[in-house]
Amino acid sequence: MQRGLFITLEGLDGSGKSTQLKKLAAWMQKRGSAPVITRQPGGTATGDRIRELLLDSRSAGLAPLAEMALMFADRAQVIAEVIEPALAAGQTVLCDRFTDSTEAYQGGGRELGSDVVLEMHRLVCGGLEPDLTLLLLPSLEVSLKRARRRNDRVTAQSGKDEGRFEAEEDEFHRRVWEKYREIAAREPDRVVLIEGDLGIDEVHEQIVEAVAMCLSEAHVYSVNSGRSA
Ligand code: TYD
Repeated sequence: MQRGLFITLEGLDGSGKSTQLKKLAAWMQKRGSAPVITRQPGGTATGDRIRELLLDSRSAGLAPLAEMALMFADRAQVIAEVIEPALAAGQTVLCDRFTDSTEAYQGGGRELGSDVVLEMHRLVCGGLEPDLTLLLLPSLEVSLKRARRRNDRVTAQSGKDEGRFEAEEDEFHRRVWEKYREIAAREPDRVVLIEGDLGIDEVHEQIVEAVAMCLSEAHVYSVNSGRSA
């Protein structure tokens, strides 16, 4: 059985990632290749509990290394429960955030640096690397505005407080943004950088182009016919 493809979506809070993930999943489903969708932190019952701990503003004062270790604990669980079994069964996995988030947020934002994150990645994830990473990077100003609006809305609607990262100062988000750009420059073969303040449909088109290319290279289905191989 051919192993499935592992595709990750990355970007700042407010980059439009969730909207694009849904549109991409629908596009793939239409072509007969419905992906397995998961996210981090979360994606498993244990992971959802770790997520609560990580995103709740009451976890103020969490040491950066503790925060990073919790992100990897969550990751180890979702790899074991969801990602590896799906890939082994030949399914495509779409994952909302993966190790690039840890490198950007804990390595960049919290200033732990890339080395410690990549070392932990090697220990926890073994050889598991995304085949393709879609990095959505609108301007920092636009991302920040959207993220803050969304956080107020989510808190008002659900009463859930998931705002610990959104509440960070602008300088934190600038460091995250810069680290993401650094990752894209370092790994151009894996990371497709979608920059600028584009409309939803324009971003979707760029995503579809990159995914179609990746699927076709892996012989999952042809770019033009959209049929399963
Ligand atoms: P989430 O609500 O999933 O954000 P979004 O919808 O914007 O993806 O919250 C995830 C938050 O966790 C987000 O602010 C980024 C942060 N995060 C890290 O700091 N490190 C990580 O390794 C991961 C996976 C997420």
